[in-house]
Amino acid sequence: MWSSSVTTGAELSIAGITAKTLAKEFGTPAFFIDEADFRERALAWDKALKDAFGLHAGTVYYASKAFICTEVARWIKEIGIGIDVSTGGEMAVALAGSIDPAKIEVHGNNKSLGEIEKAISVGVESIVIDSLYEIERVAAAAKKAGKVQAVLLRITPGIQAHTHESIATAHEDVKFGFSIASGAAWAAIAAVRTHPSLELRGIHAHIGSQIFGYKSFEILSERLISLLAQYRDEFKSELPELDLGGGYGIAYLPGDETVNPAEAMNALAAAVTKNCGAHKLQIPRVSIEPGRAIVGPTMFTLYEVGTVKDVTLENGTHRRYISVDGGMSDNIRPSLYGAEYTTILANRTSTAPHVSSRLVGKHCETGDIVIREIDLPDDIVPGDLLAVPATGAYGRSMASNYNHVPRPPVVAVKDGKARVIVRRETEADLLRLDI
Ligand code: LLP
Repeated sequence: MWSSSVTTGAELSIAGITAKTLAKEFGTPAFFIDEADFRERALAWDKALKDAFGLHAGTVYYASKAFICTEVARWIKEIGIGIDVSTGGEMAVALAGSIDPAKIEVHGNNKSLGEIEKAISVGVESIVIDSLYEIERVAAAAKKAGKVQAVLLRITPGIQAHTHESIATAHEDVKFGFSIASGAAWAAIAAVRTHPSLELRGIHAHIGSQIFGYKSFEILSERLISLLAQYRDEFKSELPELDLGGGYGIAYLPGDETVNPAEAMNALAAAVTKNCGAHKLQIPRVSIEPGRAIVGPTMFTLYEVGTVKDVTLENGTHRRYISVDGGMSDNIRPSLYGAEYTTILANRTSTAPHVSSRLVGKHCETGDIVIREIDLPDDIVPGDLLAVPATGAYGRSMASNYNHVPRPPVVAVKDGKARVIVRRETEADLLRLDI
């Protein structure tokens, strides 16, 4: 839930700096990212993949949609893992951070021609193709550039992952990929093979996000490996790459489980080995794309309390509303997915009894809720600081300017030093695009 450099005793601190000091220097609301923790997590997934798959380990592609900025792209480059980008914008940030294009994997279910041409011209490692139209577009763009582009096909394996409907991606009724069951996957394979400007490296699938347990991944590997075997039987050659996507879950609340990288990769390696064995297939290079599991726990959001209000409900009980200076513009996940978070008083300790409270933001919507129900000290007053952990993934990256609220900064903290890596938006930024 909290990153490794955070202590939550008397007053919350990260890498030795207290919340009060951070709020004073950087203002609120703000995201604080624990740089050492980010690096440790990225390395842990890299090590786990290599340990579990040995010679057959492919690449850990950090799913940049979870959170990316130029400085984090530089960290990825230094750490040496790959990156998954799903738009031209994410690719631009990866390149701004000097990530080697040969470590960039390009996703997206509706890539523009401009995005495809850019990817090919900078020399990305691979493009993951999502539709029949895109096969033609990528083939034509590669031909025009005089290149042979390495591609993977995004496959829909027909798996109902146990997560929120909006973030499950591998059942049949989704916009992503080519379904195995309907024959679309096979048709796509045949179509790619007709283009000399495309090199089919392998297949990819992503079953969804915030997933626990390994069963879905085991079924995924079984289905994709059957397809690889079918390919071998038909074309008498084997596809070398198998990308099994991301989705590994993290803890948001006290007592939540979290996926252990070594355990997850060992389970995956066992499933891949078993299924390849059953089909007498060589083990392909296996890659993964964790986003949330790397960046999620590395950040917390620091808010300042602005108002506290007790509201009498119909049944005569009270509900306490604690309003903070951010809300659905910096964390849309509670409104969008019913996601649950926790918070703690970060600037002092309190011995006051706890009262059931609702943490809300400053937006003009009743649904602007950060935490629907949580017991918090009775003596919280305006000016207090509240820290919400595990906001690193899909927090700042899904932030909006709703109600023209400037988006919060991201501050990197390491070894007692803090520095802004994404600055706070200003009202001038908000006006910059208006004509
Ligand atoms: N690979 C592909 C192809 C993906 O589509 C995604 C996420 C990932 C990897 C990374 O998944 P992760 O390891 O981060 O779970 N906004 C939602 C999550 C959407 C995920 C979209 N794709 C949320 O806030 O929960």
